[in-house]
Amino acid sequence: MSEVSQTGTASAAPVRVALLGGGTVGAAVARALLQHPDRYAARLGAPVELLGVAVRDTTRVREGIPADLLTDDPHALAQDADVIVELMGGLEPAGELIEAALRRGAQVVSANKQLLTRRGVELQALAQEHGAGLHHEAAVMAAVPVLAVVRESLAGDEITRIRGIVNGSTNYVLDLVAREGVPFADAVRQAGELGYLEADPTEDLEGLDAAAKIALLARTAWDVPAPPDEVDVTGISGLTDADFAAAAEQGGVLKLVASAERGADGAVRCAVRPEVLPAEDPLARTRGGTNLVELDTVLAGPVTLVGAGAGGDETASAVLGDLVRAGLAVARR
Ligand SMILES: NC(=O)c1ccc[n+]([C@@H]2O[C@H](COP(=O)([O-])OP(=O)(O)OC[C@H]3O[C@@H](n4cnc5c(N)ncnc54)[C@H](OP(=O)(O)O)[C@@H]3O)[C@@H](O)[C@H]2O)c1
Repeated sequence: MSEVSQTGTASAAPVRVALLGGGTVGAAVARALLQHPDRYAARLGAPVELLGVAVRDTTRVREGIPADLLTDDPHALAQDADVIVELMGGLEPAGELIEAALRRGAQVVSANKQLLTRRGVELQALAQEHGAGLHHEAAVMAAVPVLAVVRESLAGDEITRIRGIVNGSTNYVLDLVAREGVPFADAVRQAGELGYLEADPTEDLEGLDAAAKIALLARTAWDVPAPPDEVDVTGISGLTDADFAAAAEQGGVLKLVASAERGADGAVRCAVRPEVLPAEDPLARTRGGTNLVELDTVLAGPVTLVGAGAGGDETASAVLGDLVRAGLAVARR
């Protein structure tokens, strides 16, 4: 790669990016790259060349994305790229595309919590073996840069406990009941209508999404396997209006709390469960779709991170941060 000039990057070879997925997050990433080429060129020391955007339906107009960038062949698009940004979701074909990219030493960025929870350890090992990179900040708490803080900023400290609101959908429901007195069943329905809950809300309501996230956080913090099916999970689907009334009577607030702790024996225990928190607890004050995590550390004391747990632009922020990391790794080669 050629040297970066002071004023720009005209002489550097472009970093070739394949964007797999042009939905809520993918479209936001594409728009940022296309609208602010100078921003990313300056940060990478090389221009970013967006090779294309893989979607299922290439006939649909996507605001801010030229039609000639769209393709329905993610395999062809990915095969020559320096950086693959996987924003399709689901286990396949995302899994095989990521695996193929890692095997040829490419950099991969993904926000796919579902896939990373199941295959993250194996894929990271593959990345290491082939001198590739796998970056997945957006997979946990979207815009909140928690993985980077846990993995990099706190690398010289010791995290003893992680505790947070990591699922915005259920927090939206719980907030609606607690603050506006909406009956629980109506709040669930309203959250579905507004798009806060998936068509099948089981993952959110049963605490499985939160379990996957706390497991990924524990794995990052303590370098342990932390499989999500070993998280002690209770969701919010069994709550009743009487539970909310009882919490309010005590002056407390019902929240779905995800936590992970490393005991003196070194064993890591992860849990997700509804808890009645005192009103002054920062977790109790977390509103709507917001996410918040508290990291208890030996040297720094408690460190709190808070921000948007979903949304196209918000999640794109984390994806683009990873893209800059990935692009720098390409530029260093
Ligand atoms: N949305 C959020 O707030 C958020 C937050 C954190 C993490 N994430 C993660 O980010 C990822 C993307 O989420 P999203 O909300 O952007 O999803 P989405 O809106 O459903 O977008 C998925 C995109 O992938 C394309 N796609 C899916 N399967 C494909 C295939 N086989 N071949 C080609 N294209 C395919 C779809 O094409 P069509 O457009 O033609 O259907 C669509 O453009 C997921 O892993 C999700 O869990 C999302």
